[in-house]
Amino acid sequence: MTRKFVEGENRVMSPIKCLLVAGLYAAAALAAFPAAAEEFAYEGHRKCSSCHRSQSESWRGTAHAKAFDSLAPNHKAEAKRKAGLDPAKDYRQDAQCLGCHTTGHKKDGGYDPKEPNDYLVGVTCESCHGPGAQYRLMHRKAGDRFERGGKTTGREQLAELGQEFAFQERCNACHMNYEGSPWTHAKPPFTPFTPKVEARYGFAFDKAVRDDKAMHAHFRLEGAFVGDPVAPFHAEFQAAAKPADKSRDED
Ligand code: HEC
Ligand code: HEC
Ligand code: HEC
Ligand code: HEC
Repeated sequence: MTRKFVEGENRVMSPIKCLLVAGLYAAAALAAFPAAAEEFAYEGHRKCSSCHRSQSESWRGTAHAKAFDSLAPNHKAEAKRKAGLDPAKDYRQDAQCLGCHTTGHKKDGGYDPKEPNDYLVGVTCESCHGPGAQYRLMHRKAGDRFERGGKTTGREQLAELGQEFAFQERCNACHMNYEGSPWTHAKPPFTPFTPKVEARYGFAFDKAVRDDKAMHAHFRLEGAFVGDPVAPFHAEFQAAAKPADKSRDED
């Protein structure tokens, strides 16, 4: 299934061989990407945290990490009442809520209330960075290559394996998903917490993505990955980034 890792491949080929190879690539691409965009599997944040300790520790303190707790009875009772929900009810198995308070609900490898996986509870790494089963393998390879010989890898290879670089549509799918939303892809189940309930539930991406109560802190990258696609705020975040703890857990 996995697309082959191409290491700086720039051999000269005859036109015929070129066509053949292009055909093979097209066939491989069709086999690897049968449906629409979202066929990569979710795995849970343990897989990311084993290498990205600093981001994980920071994320643990955010509102996103605690999003599942909000579904428990008597948590955030006042907010629930205002939004027309029952504060005494346990919403932790409710399909109307799980899509935005867990990771990858109803998607390949994602959160399933019948077999709850702790590493998919709350809004975790893959909710924003994309389902990671494929691209995380490339992080390991490219990281090792970079460490050994300083060779960099293009981010477009990560994007092809499901890693997200634009972010905003992913945020919108949870934050802007309500009836009457200016976001045109809104569809049920909707969030009960809309700007009509309270103005503070309105979502302004540029401000929200810089909110350190909800977003993990940023740590310095060494530059194993280069080029586009890259988020417009990437340079700004890296300029202010802290040194990263680079130790790895075995996984
Ligand atoms: C085996 C270790 C490993 C695992 C597992 C891993 N990564 Fe990485 N990741 C890396 C390395 C190495 C880099 C390059 C770091 C650098 O340039 O300093 C990287 C880079 C990144 C970047 C920055 C990419 C860029 O734009 O330059 C993000 C975001 C990221 N990882 C997220 C994740 C997420 C989310 C997961 C889990 C799905 C994950 N990683 C799993 C090792 C790993
Ligand atoms: C899977 C759904 C989901 C995604 C994706 C998501 N969020 Fe959230 N976000 C939530 C939920 C749920 C909460 C509320 C957590 C709680 O308190 O229960 C939240 C809370 C927040 C808050 C805090 C709001 C407040 O009132 O203080 C901010 C800011 C925020 N998110 C920004 C973002 C940004 C920026 C992105 C994209 C980069 C994003 N979120 C992606 C579901 C999501
Ligand atoms: C479409 C995504 C979505 C769905 C579905 C959803 N939520 Fe949320 N929920 C959010 C987002 C986004 C926030 C953060 C809103 C903010 O603070 O701006 C949130 C916040 C909350 C909060 C905290 C509000 C506060 O003021 O602190 C509670 C409690 C909550 N949700 C409960 C629920 C329950 C119960 C359900 C199911 C009946 C549900 N949510 C369904 C996206 C969703
Ligand atoms: C609510 C969305 C969201 C969640 C959840 C999230 N991230 Fe991020 N992450 C971002 C954004 C936005 C950036 C900035 C991207 C850039 O600068 O290119 C980022 C950047 C990163 C980077 C690049 C270096 C840095 O520190 O800026 C790594 C590595 C990373 N995240 C790993 C993780 C891991 C591991 C988790 C889970 C433990 C996680 N992220 C959870 C949104 C998120």
